[in-house]
Amino acid sequence: MTQICVVPGDQAAPEAMAATVLVLRELIPDIDILVVDEGIGPVGQFGETLSNECREAIDSSDATLFGATSRRTGAISYLRWGKATYANIRPVSYIEGIKSPLSNPNNIDFVIVRENTEDLYAAVEGDLDLLRPLKLTSYRGTGIPALGDGRFAVKVITRAATERIAHYAFQMARRRKQAGYPGKVTMSCKHNTLPTADGFFREIVTEIAENYSDIEYNDFIIDDFARRIIVEPETLDVVLLPNQYGDILSDEASALVGGLGVAPSGCYGDEYAYFEPVHGSAPDIEGLGIINPTATMLSAAMMLEYLNLPVAANTLKTSIRTVYANKENLPKDQGGNGTTEQFTRSVIASL
Ligand code: NAI
Ligand code: MG
Repeated sequence: MTQICVVPGDQAAPEAMAATVLVLRELIPDIDILVVDEGIGPVGQFGETLSNECREAIDSSDATLFGATSRRTGAISYLRWGKATYANIRPVSYIEGIKSPLSNPNNIDFVIVRENTEDLYAAVEGDLDLLRPLKLTSYRGTGIPALGDGRFAVKVITRAATERIAHYAFQMARRRKQAGYPGKVTMSCKHNTLPTADGFFREIVTEIAENYSDIEYNDFIIDDFARRIIVEPETLDVVLLPNQYGDILSDEASALVGGLGVAPSGCYGDEYAYFEPVHGSAPDIEGLGIINPTATMLSAAMMLEYLNLPVAANTLKTSIRTVYANKENLPKDQGGNGTTEQFTRSVIASL
């Protein structure tokens, strides 16, 4: 029997998760849903400090649905690094009825493929004193020895992780092409200023692109690309980004199609996948009962697809679309007066 682990997280995230679990229990009554608090336990191999109970629930489930956390080393460390979920997939598609700052958001339908394990989020940081003996210098001729008191963070780009995520993006473009999308991968990074690290990312992706002659490939420097996302989002199909740029630009991209309240994501590895909204734990609206649960619900729909339950996934997406099209009980971030609970009741009624 299929089992889903649900980790609600903290601050306002559990409110969106409770709403989503209500919907899932209506939608798929035969599936085991194990709701578990991340808790605090001993430090694991990846710095994670979740409870053993939570770790075991994640391990014994077919997939995990995660809320969001204000903790750096909770379940998320285990779900990303412990489970090697290296591909963070963030669809950016417009749903009719949702509030967009653009006059015509209808043709926005792309997906961000964000490398999910390395780059600056390898999180190796320290005091500059540690680097001084290495006498590192930059191509400008200046170097660590000349700098005073300070700290550093390491940006790690490895061949293996870059090849893996590049293949993932091109294969996704291929699958989408079969479904009528253009069949295009757009990559972006800062290879001009960081020719060694970001330049390596670009070099490898360009190499991999040659294996996919059926897929169009182009790239832009990241600052220009941040602008293009706003002015020509309808030209994008699959967008491949290193970890930190992917993190930042996915919040930006979400703004075009309704913002964080409606932006879902999935993190896929070779052996495991977990699903979470793009947003964080929204502390400023904790306890107000107004968090928009759409992002968590759409993440749950991605999970149902992963679990090979396409009918349930489609039913859930269609219900959400119906509620937005009818502008029924829309949450505050969408310009409505609906509480989380009222909006959720509308979704359940349309299932
Ligand atoms: P945030 O995404 O939690 O919130 C940013 C803004 O968007 C806030 O005004 C919030 O109220 C609003 N917002 C977010 N989700 C919403 C929703 N579903 N409905 C309506 N409004 C929504 O980002 P912030 O404030 O920068 O971070 C808060 C905490 O979340 C931090 O501790 C951060 O580390 C953590 N975080 C956790 C993530 C995760 O668990 N995957 C991801 C991002 C941040
Ligand atoms: Mg983020």
